[in-house]
Amino acid sequence: MNKIAVAGTGYVGLVAGVCFAEVGHQVTCVDIDENKVRLMESGVSPIYEADLEELMQKNYAAGRLHYTTDYKSAYKDADAIFIGVGTPEQPDGSANLSYIATVARQIAETVEKDCLVVVKSTVPVGTNDKVEKFIKDFLVNDVKVEVASNPEFLAQGSAVHDTLHAARIIIGTESKWAEEMLRKIYEPFNLPIVSVSRRSAEMIKYASNDFLALKISYMNDIANLCELVGADIQDVAKGMSYDERIGAKFLNAGIGYGGSCFPKDTKALEYLARQHGYELRTIKAAIDVNKDQKTMLYKKACRRLITFSGLKVAILGLTFKPGTDDLREAPSLENIPLLLDAGADIYAYDPVGIENFKKKYSEGKNGQGSIKYVESVEEALKDANVCFIFTEWGEIKAVKPEQYKKLMRTALVYDGRNIYDVEAMFKAGVEYYSIGRPYMKIAEMNSEAAATKEA
Ligand code: UDX
Repeated sequence: MNKIAVAGTGYVGLVAGVCFAEVGHQVTCVDIDENKVRLMESGVSPIYEADLEELMQKNYAAGRLHYTTDYKSAYKDADAIFIGVGTPEQPDGSANLSYIATVARQIAETVEKDCLVVVKSTVPVGTNDKVEKFIKDFLVNDVKVEVASNPEFLAQGSAVHDTLHAARIIIGTESKWAEEMLRKIYEPFNLPIVSVSRRSAEMIKYASNDFLALKISYMNDIANLCELVGADIQDVAKGMSYDERIGAKFLNAGIGYGGSCFPKDTKALEYLARQHGYELRTIKAAIDVNKDQKTMLYKKACRRLITFSGLKVAILGLTFKPGTDDLREAPSLENIPLLLDAGADIYAYDPVGIENFKKKYSEGKNGQGSIKYVESVEEALKDANVCFIFTEWGEIKAVKPEQYKKLMRTALVYDGRNIYDVEAMFKAGVEYYSIGRPYMKIAEMNSEAAATKEA
């Protein structure tokens, strides 16, 4: 078994570290934040992620998993150092590599034996060549250090499962020694390994993520057209999914993709192409569609209502997807400021995202409107004039159509995740707008209401 150090204890670093320990390696996770290290030592995960705490506690107790702020002790005699620090997006769309550079410098100054540095963070193609040169330039001891690329494909909410049961492990190396070392580390996972050059590995990560982002934007584009021509995107997706060349996954139209990867990685690849004098038109289109898609429901609601001022607006779901407390690029963050500007009194509910959201918008008066955080779906819906569904949490999906009718003052629902059957909402007397599905029923409802009035 190998001695492994992991730099960074975010989604990528911590999950990788815990999973390496789980398969038997000796792992030390390094983070600069002392409080975070103490928290992890006490068995608490700094991120909300299924199964993670359990495995942290188990492997810590077994003595295979350690946490420290003292990077020197972790790096000096490690066989491999995995870098899983963030590469946040900069205003121009490029990736900020300063955290990687800091760790690379620390590694160069501390390693005392031959060691493989493995970059898990998503970095622009060619970065790992530079990281290797950078480490060699600052190397203090006479040891061999090589850099390998090993991109991470985990999705938040299922990170541990995705790591232990990954569809494939991509390793990008420039020597047999590096390739063999990584193969050995991953052997206990018993997963397919694809070994390529360092630059190809870097590109596989972007090309994969951006392909999925493109797939979602394509479906959203088609969904918008479906609305105009009276087709139903869910039926269209179903029909498409039977073609194995298309596949059944990532065909869900909705309120646009969010999270820490797709928005950042699409912009980074587009930026990389631009830097090389090439216009990446497909990805540019995916970015544009996604930007508009995020506020699609708000725009629909503006066409339907005279004003939001003084209206009680229920928001169901704040996080960018279920299973995580992460708000990065979440549709709620685009829509809530618009609603507040328009004077809405927001009642927001999310099973785990409220604490993070409070850091951005404190409770009470906010601009022209106000926000109140509530502890249940019912509380949010009670006497509301309009409801927006932004995240398809299980408990939100479990709300019956009749409950909207019963609890809300006016049963007007904008669903960004196509949770409900249009017919069922219609039958329950809910005025229901979703993404890419016909409004026919709404028209029918209006004429029925008119008929009832006349009678
Ligand atoms: C993604 C990739 O799945 C993962 O492989 C990569 O390593 C990191 O980025 P993540 O961002 O955690 O993972 O979540 P994912 O489940 O892929 O969803 C991303 C966004 O796309 C979410 O906002 C989700 O709501 C949206 N989405 C997903 C859709 O709108 N439609 C779909 O059909 C699927």
